[in-house]
Amino acid sequence: MKISVIGAGYVGVVLSAGLARLGHDIILVDINEEKVKTLNEGKAPFYEKGLDELISEVKDKVKATTDLKEAVKATELTFICVGTPSRKEGYMHIEQIKEACLEIGLTLLRKPEKHYVVIKSTVLPGTSEECIKIISEVSGKKFPSEFSFAMNPEFLREGNAVYDFFNQDRIVIGSTDKEIVEKLREVYKGIESPILETKFRDAEMIKYANNAFLATKISFINEIGNICKKLGVDTNIVAKGIGMDFRINPHFFKSGIGFGGSCFPKDVSALAYKATEKGYAPRLLNAVLDINRDQPMKLLTIMDNKLNGDIKGKNIAILGLAFKADTDDVRESPSLQIIKELLLEQANLHVYDPSAMESVKKIFPHLNYTSTAQEAIDNSEIVLLLTEWPEFTELNYGDKHVIDGKNVFDTDKAHLRSKNYEGICW
Ligand code: UDX
Repeated sequence: MKISVIGAGYVGVVLSAGLARLGHDIILVDINEEKVKTLNEGKAPFYEKGLDELISEVKDKVKATTDLKEAVKATELTFICVGTPSRKEGYMHIEQIKEACLEIGLTLLRKPEKHYVVIKSTVLPGTSEECIKIISEVSGKKFPSEFSFAMNPEFLREGNAVYDFFNQDRIVIGSTDKEIVEKLREVYKGIESPILETKFRDAEMIKYANNAFLATKISFINEIGNICKKLGVDTNIVAKGIGMDFRINPHFFKSGIGFGGSCFPKDVSALAYKATEKGYAPRLLNAVLDINRDQPMKLLTIMDNKLNGDIKGKNIAILGLAFKADTDDVRESPSLQIIKELLLEQANLHVYDPSAMESVKKIFPHLNYTSTAQEAIDNSEIVLLLTEWPEFTELNYGDKHVIDGKNVFDTDKAHLRSKNYEGICW
């Protein structure tokens, strides 16, 4: 099938490359000319495990362009994968989505064949109906007879997005039009996943509820972890014990400095904001966000105690900037909050991350970025582990104080811990 994908963020690029591997011909649209050039050279425009290889494998089947209208005209189905940025308090902007729908509508004015439009971006319940209205008004075409529309949320984890694309727990397709559901079944042929058919709003809400639940699981184990720490109990063992109950399960149950990234903080805030706007006080979601906001401070309190509150002028190694391993993404990374606090205390920071230093240099240009992790350790008296990069288990920490905020030395690697080691919740 000929498919256009709007937005070359990690979802759009992984989706394009994955669909190409399934045999489809893809036109990927982005306003960023640099990204388009890189993609047309057969390279990924950002770091994502396995993506470079996949893009170069399918380069004959993926063409990138800045021309949205031409892409829509030349294809049968369009995925919208543009960003939905949000303000701090949770209000979400869907201007890019509306803009894409407007452009699609304008193109459909002069396209006689029926076109299929699918939203991949994370949007609040009600957005699909708004999009249908825009496309319909602009193109003068009727849904579902003259164009069709579906909401098909993504659940790709950064760093595992390529694997996740081909191994989806389920594919959710929300639409009131059976025809587009059948089209999408055809699109995903080759992926062995159950397909759940829903209405628009159900599909939109499933994505939010999914992320809200996972975020809740993390804040829950962090709360238990904070209590465990006060009682001298190892949270990792407790998580293992409760995770053995099949109703709970052991996955996504690691305590640490809290969740970051481009999805969880934004999506939970957006859902809480929407609920409040509708007159419902989302007490649990607010608590999840509160716990998460405070979690990096727990690590600083442990450090404070170790240094007897005397942080000014102290040499501190920051190992890890990315919000999790296998990515160079630092959006909402707890390590940025920790760096900010330590700079306010006038500490000397020696900073290392195997892939995320360039983006942090733009935010904090004056930190001492070291070329190896070992150099950061050697120059410091205390080491903070803030991303779970496996290579951090292979360093020589000597007798330095090491505070682990990310389970770098989890239960399985406990034997590798240095003698002055302490975990945030264990
Ligand atoms: C998430 C969702 O998992 C994915 O389905 C959705 O489509 C996008 O948002 P992502 O943001 O890439 O994916 O990262 P994820 O692996 O889910 O981790 C999110 C955050 O939670 C990270 O900061 C991670 O370190 C933290 N986390 C995760 C924990 O603190 N403990 C855990 O046990 C798991």
